[in-house]
Amino acid sequence: MIRVFITSKIPEEGINLLRKHGYAIEFGSLKKAKGVDALLCLLTDTIDGKVMDQIGPQLKVISNMAVGLDNIDVHEAIKRGIAFTNTPGVLTETVAEHTVALLLAVSRRIVEADAFVRAKKYKGWKVNLFLGQELRGKTVGIVGYGRIGSRVASILEKGFGMKILYHDERRNEIAKKNNATYVSFKDLLKLSDVVTLHVPLLPATRHLVGQKEFRAMKRTAYFINTSRGQVVNEKALVQALKERVIAGAGIDVFEHEPNIDAGLLKAQNAVLTPHIASASKEARTAMAELAAQNIIDALK
Ligand code: DGY
Repeated sequence: MIRVFITSKIPEEGINLLRKHGYAIEFGSLKKAKGVDALLCLLTDTIDGKVMDQIGPQLKVISNMAVGLDNIDVHEAIKRGIAFTNTPGVLTETVAEHTVALLLAVSRRIVEADAFVRAKKYKGWKVNLFLGQELRGKTVGIVGYGRIGSRVASILEKGFGMKILYHDERRNEIAKKNNATYVSFKDLLKLSDVVTLHVPLLPATRHLVGQKEFRAMKRTAYFINTSRGQVVNEKALVQALKERVIAGAGIDVFEHEPNIDAGLLKAQNAVLTPHIASASKEARTAMAELAAQNIIDALK
């Protein structure tokens, strides 16, 4: 009988799909996975060569319930002939919506204002109370113009009348639909009122944004990251927020998750969420189903 090991409780829909195929399902922490044919894991599970050896030579597929694959040592998997899969597409809408939610929250100071009201500090309407910035007519720079980046562009262009710049290692056909203009990374930083990251974590994107990049942005710019924390030098982000090198940030992912730099926790001009950009019922159900289907397809 085919054995599938799942490292976490995932939506039932995914488990049912595997059961329908007659697979034996086992649950537990990663270190308990042994002798199974397939592994369904999360981005918090580090799957390196040692883990692959621990599971054993009958392991045929590693199915990551995430679009990012940076927690898997794909070179070690290739060496051993183990297939690895991810869940792209099904979380695009949810992550794009969260990106826009972070942008609105930081540009209209929603979290600060909410805390102010709950602390009973609201004593009457004032001309300058929690002034933010409007988005219409401003420029957003999208770094990484794949599924999520281009969906964010579409929402911000159609819904908010923003001008779209993008940078990607490839020029993208979809860019034409959103009236997006390709620019160098350097120009994107210089010209954008909002910079938002949508790149995978790769050796080439690690610390893509640091002190130099923050200094290249407008002092009025907002910075949004829903990709991976290690794409940004978190210390440099803290400094940029503290010294008002940029106006603010909306951050869903952290360099040393779940630990977060103390300076970032104190920054009033940042809105922070705990890696929940894909956390809608719709996306998580679809991710579980796709992760299960990937196992079925790979084993076939
Ligand atoms: C992913 O899928 O890679 C996200 O970061 C988690 O939803």
